[in-house]
Amino acid sequence: MSPFLLTRTLPEDATTAALRADVLHGLTRTPKTLPPKWFYDTRGSELFEEITRLPEYYPTRAEREILAERAPEIAAATGARTLVELGSGSSEKTRFLLDALPSLHSYVPVDVSESALNGAAEALLADHPDLNVHALIADFTHGPTLPVTPGPRLVAFLGGTIGNLLPDERALFLRSVRAMLDPGDFLLLGTDLVKDEAVLVRAYDDAAGVTAEFNKNVLAVLARELGADVDPGDFDHVARWDRDNEWIEMRLRARSALTVKIPELDLVVPFEQGEELRTEVSAKFRQDGVRTELAAAGMDLTHWWTDGEGRFALSLATAS
Ligand code: SAH
Ligand code: TRP
Repeated sequence: MSPFLLTRTLPEDATTAALRADVLHGLTRTPKTLPPKWFYDTRGSELFEEITRLPEYYPTRAEREILAERAPEIAAATGARTLVELGSGSSEKTRFLLDALPSLHSYVPVDVSESALNGAAEALLADHPDLNVHALIADFTHGPTLPVTPGPRLVAFLGGTIGNLLPDERALFLRSVRAMLDPGDFLLLGTDLVKDEAVLVRAYDDAAGVTAEFNKNVLAVLARELGADVDPGDFDHVARWDRDNEWIEMRLRARSALTVKIPELDLVVPFEQGEELRTEVSAKFRQDGVRTELAAAGMDLTHWWTDGEGRFALSLATAS
């Protein structure tokens, strides 16, 4: 019997319903915005995996370096029997944790991308045939209901994905993470760090144009799911460092005046030449900020590890 279970906590059609609501809301305001979770259809998940291998995109390699070195310490500090991973994607770096946690009973990857969850589970079970893998197709910002599994529980949120939430969303999200934990359970949080602007911008505007393609993929999602008549070629990819907010902001800029028609929403969206649609922020962090945000959500930072070059940090926090 296969120890793999996949639970859809989003109804089959919720994705389109939520997409409709987000598109209606985001494209009728100024400035125009779209929430980042819509990047990750099957193609988007593939493109993200390609991004993680780009020479300019250091976060994945830096976080892998930390995990490779610190997994035994994380295992010793937590003694986790259940590992929940939010936005797990390919679960590739998670292997260091799975290999280091000898008494792990269950792995619960949570992602909106069904294709990523299936691919990850297949690859993991080949090496960990006795692990109970209970995958959840769910939105991690909506406090997913976790299966009943033995504690202690370790919730991992890697890849710097927390930086894709805006500050107020982040505060709410961290409270919902705290609600997944009993006192003495743990959060393992990956955060990209503030650094030289040129290094940051290159990581989000690579020479091969993969990030540009990833950013424009959200337009392909609108075309496929909502029948939008939009040509990704009409937009330029823009990645800009916002010094005040300390985040990279990703945008799509209209190359000429144009309209995007979305008949399914009865919507015609005009763009002026040069008008920008904000698709994503990727906030960069400092240790003090991380500690303060965790404390505000009821978690105490106990460990702070960085890669050798100090580019990326992994935090371990415990629920107080
Ligand atoms: N943790 C992996 C993947 C990071 S990319 C790594 O470190 O490489 C972000 C992942 O989060 C993607 O797999 C995407 O599908 C998922 N994701 C984005 N927004 C989400 C949301 N609101 N709820 C659940 N998953 C989400
Ligand atoms: N969590 C990743 C990050 O903030 C996601 C990401 C990387 C991303 N490159 C991107 C999202 C380009 C949109 C566009 O680093």
